[in-house]
Amino acid sequence: MTDLPPRCAGVLLRGCGSATPARSISNDELGDRVETSDTWIRSRTGIAARRIVGREESLTALSAKAAEAALQMAGWSADSLDLILLATSTPDDLFGSAPRLQARIGAVRAAAFDVTAACSGFLFAVITAAQYLRCGAMQRILVVGADQLSRWVDWDDRRSCVLFGDAAGALVLEASIDGQDDLGGFLLRSDGSRGDVLQLPHHRDHLPLVGSASHQKGGFESIQMNGQEVYKFAVREVPAILDALLQKTGASAEQLDWLLLHQANQRILDAVAERFSIPQSKVLSNLASYGNTSAATIPLMLDEAVRDGRIQAGHRIASSGFGAGLSWGAALLRWSGPA
Ligand code: UT7
Repeated sequence: MTDLPPRCAGVLLRGCGSATPARSISNDELGDRVETSDTWIRSRTGIAARRIVGREESLTALSAKAAEAALQMAGWSADSLDLILLATSTPDDLFGSAPRLQARIGAVRAAAFDVTAACSGFLFAVITAAQYLRCGAMQRILVVGADQLSRWVDWDDRRSCVLFGDAAGALVLEASIDGQDDLGGFLLRSDGSRGDVLQLPHHRDHLPLVGSASHQKGGFESIQMNGQEVYKFAVREVPAILDALLQKTGASAEQLDWLLLHQANQRILDAVAERFSIPQSKVLSNLASYGNTSAATIPLMLDEAVRDGRIQAGHRIASSGFGAGLSWGAALLRWSGPA
């Protein structure tokens, strides 16, 4: 299972971890804020609750907790990392939160930077990490997918606020020169022409600077989403890209042990599984407990399934991320686990 060109290193998935805020908010509790119901939310999305970052918590702290769990699983010390990629659209600092994460976990040798691709961010970051490993430039990389969308949700918009939650998930990857490879293939796509169906726009005020020059100042608004258009995009593009990936890698849907999709809506997971005749038992879902945690959904779900023993060494996983941008992608993975 590899599309590894000669003289390129393989990529091994060695450890994973995750962290979620302490406070869980049920659908019924949200019903105290907006006109909605547990029945509506569950039947339209599969979501029963979501975790929200509280006063004593932060995105960086959650990311560090997830990262430390992944390092512990792999049996690595933080100072053995060469690079940290933090996939997030909601950093604690707009200049990037990855360096704070690097300092917090003591990864003194690692360079660190943020990757922004909304809900596709984790998958995009894993593929980015893989290139550094493949070319031999680096040996060990930590990829964290973390988002705190609760900062940017309009909590009075029932059409979107019921969907989102906060979390962090981590994966540590290692270069391998013995022919093993856990990345069977990947495809990444973007289409900015459709970006307005899911956006977090920045509004601009023009303020006088000097003479006739002005400068722009402003702030970000709340998440704006056309739910039906995003839904249609997902059920059209996710099966298409998975189909293209299977063709590219020569794998068949029957050979997959798990389908690990961005956790946006249970109906989207069901529609994709049906398209490939993949039984529900192979479709990983934890939407009910956490909702859509953006860049965190895939590593959060991966960590849960590895730790409870569903995903075992050697299992093949088809993963797809999709969301704002618009951006979407898919990867054929294998879980190796600790050496
Ligand atoms: O990472 C990607 C992030 N985004 C997504 O994944 C979004 C994808 N889209 C979706 O998941 C679905 O489109 C939603 C769950 C957002 C909405 O489900 P829907 O089946 O497309 O509902 P709808 O927008 O067509 O609305 C149906 C009705 C409307 O009422 P009327 O106009 O028929 O009277 C809405 O006002 O449901 C109403 N509605 C609600 N009712 C109770 C919308 N949100 C709610 C709510 N509670 N929270």
